Amino acid sequence: MHPMLNIAIRAARKAGDFIAKSAENTDNVETSQKGTNDFVTNIDQGAEQIIIDVIKKSYPEHNIIAEESGVVSGKDADYQWIIDPLDGTTNFVKSLPHFSVSIALRIKGRTEVACVYDPIRNELFSAQRGAGAQLNSKRIRVGVSKDLGGTILATGFPFKAKQHSESYVNIVSALFVDCADFRRTGSAALDLCYVAAGRVDGFFELGLKPWDMAAGELIAREAGALCTDFSGATAYMQSGNIVAANPKVLKGILGKIRENANEAMMK
Ligand code: IPD
Ligand code: CA
Ligand code: CA
Repeated sequence: MHPMLNIAIRAARKAGDFIAKSAENTDNVETSQKGTNDFVTNIDQGAEQIIIDVIKKSYPEHNIIAEESGVVSGKDADYQWIIDPLDGTTNFVKSLPHFSVSIALRIKGRTEVACVYDPIRNELFSAQRGAGAQLNSKRIRVGVSKDLGGTILATGFPFKAKQHSESYVNIVSALFVDCADFRRTGSAALDLCYVAAGRVDGFFELGLKPWDMAAGELIAREAGALCTDFSGATAYMQSGNIVAANPKVLKGILGKIRENANEAMMK
């Protein structure tokens, strides 16, 4: 295993265990509001510090971009860790047991290793570029659906960008005619991993941040998914608008998006 994946996993497990323990006793959880419908807790911050400490101990010169701390600069600009210490904060705050720790490492701008850890189910999703994706060390693959028929699609509502509500609902409505059903789980990182494991057949969301996607994206691609933005191009890390599925299902999702999205979403 890539030594840096080893460190990512060590950090994710340590932070995940801290989050799972904190979920058992919510008296110690302090929640504050970052923005509209956007919350952070002392547990997000504590988990992030645990991850940063583990990475810095082994790689003091690497750069880190973390959701709550922003950029933690190091001397070696080629190495960039991207961290979401708690993906699914709203679930965590509401005691819905579905959230994750997401850690990716980009080397010279390319994601090389990634892990997403669900501490409640003790499920560790991981990937190394070119070496496939794993769930608890077992190889995972995307589903084999040939079109939207019978598919279960995951999505996230644009709760921070409600100006897109109408177009978004139109996309969902058009997809709903052809797919079997939808899930809105509340952790984009796990949604991408669930595409990788074939637990859902596709995922799309708009307005995500790099830390929501960086790890799950590599895991999904290494499991055979294609990831694109809403126009079918590859600029999802810039726009935050991502679609992930096997190539056939992706085509079906993109078709419905093209017919119903507004102009801003297609960028
Ligand atoms: C959120 C989750 C959620 C998605 C939001 C993200 P956070 O991340 O991934 O599923 O719908 O767009 O912001 O804030 O819980 O880390
Ligand atoms: Ca997130
Ligand atoms: Ca987060």
